[in-house]
Amino acid sequence: MRIVSKAAAMQKCALQWKRRGVRVGFVPTMGYLHAGHLSLVKRARQAVGKKGVVVVSIYVNPTQFAPTEDLAKYPRDLKRDLKLCREAGVDVVFTPSDAEMYPVGSSRCDDRTAQRAVPNEFSTFVVEEKLSRTMEGAARPTHFRGVTTVVAKLFNLVLPDVAVFGQKDFQQAAIIERMVADLNFPVKIIVAPTLREPDGLAMSSRNKFLDAEQRAQAVILFHALQAASLAVKRKPVSAMRLKTDLKEFITAAPLGRLDYVEFFNPETLAPVGQVKRGTQMTLAVFFGKTRLIDNAQL
Ligand code: PAJ
Repeated sequence: MRIVSKAAAMQKCALQWKRRGVRVGFVPTMGYLHAGHLSLVKRARQAVGKKGVVVVSIYVNPTQFAPTEDLAKYPRDLKRDLKLCREAGVDVVFTPSDAEMYPVGSSRCDDRTAQRAVPNEFSTFVVEEKLSRTMEGAARPTHFRGVTTVVAKLFNLVLPDVAVFGQKDFQQAAIIERMVADLNFPVKIIVAPTLREPDGLAMSSRNKFLDAEQRAQAVILFHALQAASLAVKRKPVSAMRLKTDLKEFITAAPLGRLDYVEFFNPETLAPVGQVKRGTQMTLAVFFGKTRLIDNAQL
């Protein structure tokens, strides 16, 4: 397994693969890998086969964190990540530094003044303007601008034929698909299912911040998705009514604080008034300072 930390070296490597006709599968991550990430690696390998190469990027991208968020505290363990990648049969791990990705001091954006001048050295951002406005985009106004910008940069450095994203971040995957279509990136996006702990909690790098009590209660997100599925199994229910019921339902986890629950059309991401089978549900719940998200098609 090769470890590449320079952007130019990564791109050179990718261009050589292109010239030789080698297919490239790509899994972008922020590291602190878990079985969910590794399932994406497996999916990428399936897509490119034994003769193809699988690249994983490990980069905690500052521009997708607001100043109030957990950038500095985001969990990191490169040594362990590299071991997991090696065991999973990854060919190349791309681990750029901030200086490689955002030259000289360009930093995270400020959610209160999203248009704040960024340093001259980095001044081009990719902004998706429709799907990014609701849910995670409403709760974290500059988040997706950071995600689309870094993913576009990574695509230009890795030149993947196929890139795999998780359903866990449903809105992120939808926005990346839109970006790829709108900007004609020559890459196929695969969206892979959410891997869960045995009790149903979606695997996440942030789960490590939960103490034992919070961890036990965090399964409420999964239970809320199940409860909503059950509620609309026979007949549609008004979104307002279901939101009220779910707010009440979530009080069963007294350490949790609901950030939002939304119902929307899985294709357009437009909010729906009536929730029925097939409607997409997303919710975000704080446990202390840790914010967990989950989603499902009901
Ligand atoms: P990160 O949170 O590390 O997630 C990397 C990829 O793993 C994403 O596509 C995410 O949806 C997927 N993933 C996370 N938990 C999962 C689970 N339980 N089951 C299956 N897949 C899971 O998402 C990001 O990083 C960043 O925003 C990134 C795209 C790398 C851009 O910086």
